[in-house]
Amino acid sequence: MHVAFIMDGNGRWAQARGLPRHEGHRRGAAVVKKILRVVEKNGIKYATFFAFSSENFSRPESEINFLMNLFEKFLKKYNKTFCEKEVRFRAIGDLSQLPINLQLAIEKLIQNTACFDKFHLTIALNYGARSEVIYAMRNLLKNKNVDVDNLTWEDFEQYLYTKDLPDPDLIIRTSGEQRLSNFLLLQSAYAELYFTKTYWPDFDEKEFLLAIEDYGIRERRMGKINDKTNN
Ligand code: FPP
Repeated sequence: MHVAFIMDGNGRWAQARGLPRHEGHRRGAAVVKKILRVVEKNGIKYATFFAFSSENFSRPESEINFLMNLFEKFLKKYNKTFCEKEVRFRAIGDLSQLPINLQLAIEKLIQNTACFDKFHLTIALNYGARSEVIYAMRNLLKNKNVDVDNLTWEDFEQYLYTKDLPDPDLIIRTSGEQRLSNFLLLQSAYAELYFTKTYWPDFDEKEFLLAIEDYGIRERRMGKINDKTNN
């Protein structure tokens, strides 16, 4: 199973408590850690977190710097744990625009965990689905061996950032917004969507399990006719 998270509401969580926005992000990082434990406990093989969108670069510099530092510290801190627990780490998005120290930490973690297959943790950083399509198209058009007339989705998806990942089965978005905001738009073609009003810093195991339970009872027909009515 692949669960993807749109972690929203850190700023509003902090504002509601009279705290600076970065306190919401700090607490948000602690929630990622807690959720990863639930992922492990429940044997969920793939987890993806939308940590920074391409659009987030238009936020004040101080908030961007805080977040970039937070990501770097997080990745360095869990390097050892990921190796112990056999977590393969990936980052999706235009990483070339990120601070060099963060790029290096990402590269190191990707290399250190490349041999693992028990769990797959992916962080979307400077990610946007439309930019991903442009990235894919550029690389596809550069490949002179592409048989354009017989191109299939399976061929095309090899050019996406997510080329080695299965499509998400469930996308959870916190904070009450009911949209995908340019996150995994093509990959989520058949994903179930779960929206909760809870702000990300308050998201917890109980609510995560509720979302999984809700996913379990929803019927995923993938555009086909229900087997039961097709007898
Ligand atoms: C959205 O809340 C959240 C972000 C832009 C950053 C997400 C980052 C974290 C949860 C921190 C840690 C993550 C990792 C992977 C270590 P918002 O700021 O848009 O909140 P608002 O909509 O209430 O303003």
